[in-house]
Amino acid sequence: TMAAPNERPLRHFTPPQGWMNDPNGLVYHDGEYHLFYQYHPDSLVWGPMHWGHAVSRDLCDWQHLPVALTPDDDGMCFSGSAVVDRYDVSGLFDGGEGLVAFYTAHRFLDADQEHYEQEQHLAWSRDGGRSWHKYAGNPIIAAPGFRDFRDPKVIYHEQSRRWVMALACGQHIRFYVSANLLDWQLASEFGHGQGCHTDGPWECPDLFELPVEGSEASASRWVLIVGVGIDHEGPQDTMGSFTQYFIGHFDGECFHNDYPDEPLLLVDQGRDFYAVQSFSNVPDRRLAIAWLNNWQYAGHAPQAGWRGAMTLPRALTLAATDRGVRLHQRFATELEHSVSPLEVALLEAPLKEGQHLLATPEADLVRGELTLELAAGSRLALSLQQGTQQQLILRAGDDATEVTYRREGYSGVARFDQHFPGERRAGELNGRQVHIQWWVDHGSVEMLIQGGQRQLSITLASFLSPHRYPISLAVQSGSVQLRDFRLDAG
Ligand code: FRU
Repeated sequence: TMAAPNERPLRHFTPPQGWMNDPNGLVYHDGEYHLFYQYHPDSLVWGPMHWGHAVSRDLCDWQHLPVALTPDDDGMCFSGSAVVDRYDVSGLFDGGEGLVAFYTAHRFLDADQEHYEQEQHLAWSRDGGRSWHKYAGNPIIAAPGFRDFRDPKVIYHEQSRRWVMALACGQHIRFYVSANLLDWQLASEFGHGQGCHTDGPWECPDLFELPVEGSEASASRWVLIVGVGIDHEGPQDTMGSFTQYFIGHFDGECFHNDYPDEPLLLVDQGRDFYAVQSFSNVPDRRLAIAWLNNWQYAGHAPQAGWRGAMTLPRALTLAATDRGVRLHQRFATELEHSVSPLEVALLEAPLKEGQHLLATPEADLVRGELTLELAAGSRLALSLQQGTQQQLILRAGDDATEVTYRREGYSGVARFDQHFPGERRAGELNGRQVHIQWWVDHGSVEMLIQGGQRQLSITLASFLSPHRYPISLAVQSGSVQLRDFRLDAG
């Protein structure tokens, strides 16, 4: 039996009704986290894009607010970002402070939507994001003479005391700089060569600096995140849309990739983590939210009057690993306040081949965490949702553990796309001790796997409900020692 698909998740943001894609304009201001999003309120498929809007004080509960930006003659309101103009450098706020949003105005030039034009626009708000005004001087950056030119992410660069905008331009990123948020000059381009994966249009860049944990106190690096969308002209890639990142240096004008010879680095190894954006103006951490979906099947996924969800908010960090500096993640600690512990019996003895461990939480939201150690040659299947529908499979070698995940295509109405089910290798961990942390909510499973120095993040949409289905740990061969097991429910 299948659970009713698309019950509302408890902690994952969903739109009130209609279609949602990318998170936009993420900014913290006056005690509120603002979440804007690509929104087609009157339809369950993508169309004329609005900016929907919600706010939260605790990253757990979101309050829906009226649509912030509506498409007009200037075009649709595509993805972008927002900042706080604290010192009124824009002159838009009469010496006070305000919120400034940057978005791409998109205009189709023909009926079959093959030709289009994209330029960068600005909107501002004086009342904490409740009402928005499109800037009279739009566009702030005109169409450059090529087609894909979108998704402005604006940051403040302390060292040069200027604002920087990253823009996705086909298969490279352009950086623009500005002193007043209104006038922008092209500073550099990144992406020609330099270790870039170039299938599909680049989208939704992000750029930020972070300290490198586990290194000398002063070490920091810059992270450039780039979404890679579906290439409609090329052969259909089995992965669909995905999110890559680069680690390097940024001097206020140019980004230099520290690892140009590395293969593709992914922010998340799952199928449903796209258009990630970090919040502007959060003082103590780099918080980010992604769209929990994939362009490959998003448009015909199961729906219940609304379609699309966001990931849980996560803090992004940098870690020094045996392979170099890498991006790691933690779930926002605020989320822990929304769950309480469940009793689980911890097995002391090793679990042997054929043995199962079951936990059956009766909850809509489950947070789990376990540490286990696999004997060399062991194979373990961890089922997190409804039998074998969502499974993590660990295979231990002598000094490494391979991680794969499986997602089944459900029967009936939910067998909606051939690309949705399947088994996929997520990566390899050092050693045979594995720590797994996960959240299961209606419609998704998010896992962070931290083994030795390497972290894997796996985000998967499911269109299932978590409650009343056992979490099972099945030893398929060898033996496994459970070191720690904790479940919380909400
Ligand atoms: C990414 C994206 C962006 C664009 C938006 C349109 O998912 O394609 O590049 O701005 O969605 O809704």
